[in-house]
Amino acid sequence: PPLDAIINLDDFEKAFAATGSKKANAYIEGASNDLLTLQANKTHWQRLFFRPRVMRNVSVVKTSSTLLGVKVKMPVWICPMGIAKTAGPEGEAALAKGAASSGIVHCVSTTASMSVEEIVGATGSDWPFFYQLYVDKQRHKTEAVLRQLASIPQIKALFVTADLAVVSKREADERVRVQATVSVYANGAKSGIDKKGGGLARSTGSFIDWSLNWDDLAWLRRHTNLPIVVKGIQSAADAKTAMELGCAGIVVSNHGGRALDGAPSTLLVLMEIRRDCPEVYERLEVFVDGGVRRGSDILKAVLLGARGVGVGRPFQCSVAYDTEGVEHCAGIIQDELETAMRLCGITDLDKVRGDMSWLNTAELA
Ligand code: FNR
Repeated sequence: PPLDAIINLDDFEKAFAATGSKKANAYIEGASNDLLTLQANKTHWQRLFFRPRVMRNVSVVKTSSTLLGVKVKMPVWICPMGIAKTAGPEGEAALAKGAASSGIVHCVSTTASMSVEEIVGATGSDWPFFYQLYVDKQRHKTEAVLRQLASIPQIKALFVTADLAVVSKREADERVRVQATVSVYANGAKSGIDKKGGGLARSTGSFIDWSLNWDDLAWLRRHTNLPIVVKGIQSAADAKTAMELGCAGIVVSNHGGRALDGAPSTLLVLMEIRRDCPEVYERLEVFVDGGVRRGSDILKAVLLGARGVGVGRPFQCSVAYDTEGVEHCAGIIQDELETAMRLCGITDLDKVRGDMSWLNTAELA
């Protein structure tokens, strides 16, 4: 379908299902086992309702905010996703350029299909980025990546992925059984097919260090000055630990249902943190991703206390339409967010963050 026929984020995924290769679809749309967490992520946003206020002069609304000090047009970031060239020839460059022109931040994946210099350089500007780190079993490789990042001033934060100690069972991916020959990161390491089906995700993820633990934050700090954000927090207890260890932020995430199937939806985790350790929202920046498909979902997440909200698959699918597609995707989110704010009676996102009085949670009980 032409780009102007794409009117919401699901349309991007549907278009990709119709036009992308079987292999690319299995990789991008796939999730773990029975897809329970994938589905819960999405349906739980849909089960949360607003408490709208009317007659409030909503002629001007402000969506701009900051994420870890980075000024953004709306508190949205493009999730780190591996090998974007599986979606379109521009790959991560389209995500980078589209994010920059839309005023949002792209978090570059360790398993990108282009080097971080190429991705950041694609904007031709000093537009900021975040970098997602998978720690390599061969720690010296990770140390080299961190040295490389230190020379790229556009990189403003390190998102350390914690929810994928081992790559999960992605059945759609395994059924395709493709040989993966992508370069897993800037230094060009090649991945190989593995014995458990050879899914693209599993074979590209075999380098991830499953010994990673909280003590390693000290090791990371010795090798980077970037603010550290732990991505993949799924309980209030771990949110509290990240806070106590001085992390700059956390991402409440279950990897878009691609890690542990049966992990709670990210909405449930946001609520659990509010209940069991509310000071987390005061002391560090709480990001969230997973199943966010509407501007209204972003508003809901902010009302639950999220500083920034990540969107994954729709952006990856939008790469099929090159930079223009990514911009169109961000434009839809911006428009839906502003519309939801106006209809809810909210004029400034930064003023309502964490204010659950704007939510009617009766249905969730
Ligand atoms: C991912 N995700 C991911 N996360 C990460 O930390 N490093 C990575 O390399 C990847 N790779 C990746 C590839 C693809 C194709 C997808 C769909 C996802 C997880 C991603 O950052 C994010 O947590 C989820 O995608 C958010 O869920 P939604 O928005 O896709 O539902």
